[in-house]
Amino acid sequence: MSDTLTVTDNRTGRTYEVPVENGTIRATDLRKIKTDERDAGLLTYDPALVNTAAVRSHITYIDGDRGILRYRGYPIEQLAEKSSYLETAYLLLRGELPTASELASWTKAVHEHRLLPERIEGLLDGFPRDTHPMGVLISGLAALSTHYPDAKSIFDEESRHRQILRIIAQTPALAAAAFRAGQGRPLVRPPDDLSVIGGFLAMLFADGGRYEPHPALERALDVLFILHADHEQNCSTYAMRSVGSSHADPFSASAAAAAALYGPLHGGANEAVLRMLTEIGSVDHVPAFIKRVEAGEVRLMGFGHRIYKSYDPRAKIIKRTADEVFDVTGRNPLLDIAMELERIALQDDYFVSRRLYPNVDFYSGLIYQAMGFPSEMFPVLFAIPRTSGWVAQWEEMLLDPDTRIVRPRQIYEGSSVRDYMPIDRRTP
Ligand code: CMC
Repeated sequence: MSDTLTVTDNRTGRTYEVPVENGTIRATDLRKIKTDERDAGLLTYDPALVNTAAVRSHITYIDGDRGILRYRGYPIEQLAEKSSYLETAYLLLRGELPTASELASWTKAVHEHRLLPERIEGLLDGFPRDTHPMGVLISGLAALSTHYPDAKSIFDEESRHRQILRIIAQTPALAAAAFRAGQGRPLVRPPDDLSVIGGFLAMLFADGGRYEPHPALERALDVLFILHADHEQNCSTYAMRSVGSSHADPFSASAAAAAALYGPLHGGANEAVLRMLTEIGSVDHVPAFIKRVEAGEVRLMGFGHRIYKSYDPRAKIIKRTADEVFDVTGRNPLLDIAMELERIALQDDYFVSRRLYPNVDFYSGLIYQAMGFPSEMFPVLFAIPRTSGWVAQWEEMLLDPDTRIVRPRQIYEGSSVRDYMPIDRRTP
């Protein structure tokens, strides 16, 4: 048996042999399938890239049928239990877990770079008070590219690593600035002795005196950050790779990735879940809401996934983390509605037949709300750790010899050629 695919073109009766490698064929191998010499060759049509491996990656592995997620080979469950966000970010970037001294110098470097340049801080103060913090975060990431012109040197390894460090270290400060600017409060500098997560909480919530993060809440946020750090070729990561493929600097590419994450079908889903739970209002209203979902009137936000066709492994960990947070903050009253939705959905034929299960966003918003975050901050909290995945994927893309500027093809279905019509002869 050879690792090839034999294709017969019934338009011409010709047969072609196409190599199969890693369960894929090279789409460009199909170009040789033509009806005649003027034909440019066969294309594939895959509007949302649902069946196209657009990259080769060593970073994150997902088996959606079995609910498996691994970063660099390490199961997400083990990382969530034993690792920290910063260690996980290092793993994503470098491919290996750090030694104690590597982790210490990585942590020190992130600490040293975690404050925003003053001019950027000033810029963020100029947004309208009640604006959405994702808009501020996206603008802030793009603005950082103006402050660090050396970011354009994307093929200089040292420069690349400097920008990666800045993006990972400064995004929490951007997020905190967006949060506080929305409330008309100035950004505060975190005390030096707090961890990166503790310092982030201080930048958000400190009011006058010293802020001491609750260790259980700090750990919960650390776990949520680990779970959100990467998820292979999703919409925002692919935006990062796609924009990066034009050799844009990584701040501009991260701004594009953050914009992709903003949408309610991606990182905005956790915010949408909270809105949905609030609208449902009580456990008694859940069956009626499920009927509306079945009728196609609304989507059950926080359910379903392009890749997971079983329970999202991150959702399982988040559900456990929620209990630990609620022990400190008190139970979020919306939890009962969420649990009832999940109970009914998991036995309802509409969801079972489509293999729709809770995803990472179903319970995360409840935790964030209990911790004191307004719902507009939820996608921002998703974006902070995802920067580590974005930059790891961006660097992998740049160093891959197969990388070329992203440029998909289209099937043109518009008018054929016609003559320009003067305005006085056009009919409505
Ligand atoms: N509620 C109701 N029906 C759904 C849902 C849902 N949440 N998700 C999918 N379906 C239905 C959909 O209507 C379709 O039904 P039919 O075959 O009858 O037309 C079928 O299930 C397949 O759905 P799809 O839209 O083709 O699936 P997709 O892979 O294109 O979309 C998704 C994936 C995540 C966008 C979608 O499941 C969704 O909109 N979920 C709600 C939003 C959400 O929770 N997003 C967070 C994703 S996880 C975090 C992240 O990675 O960003």
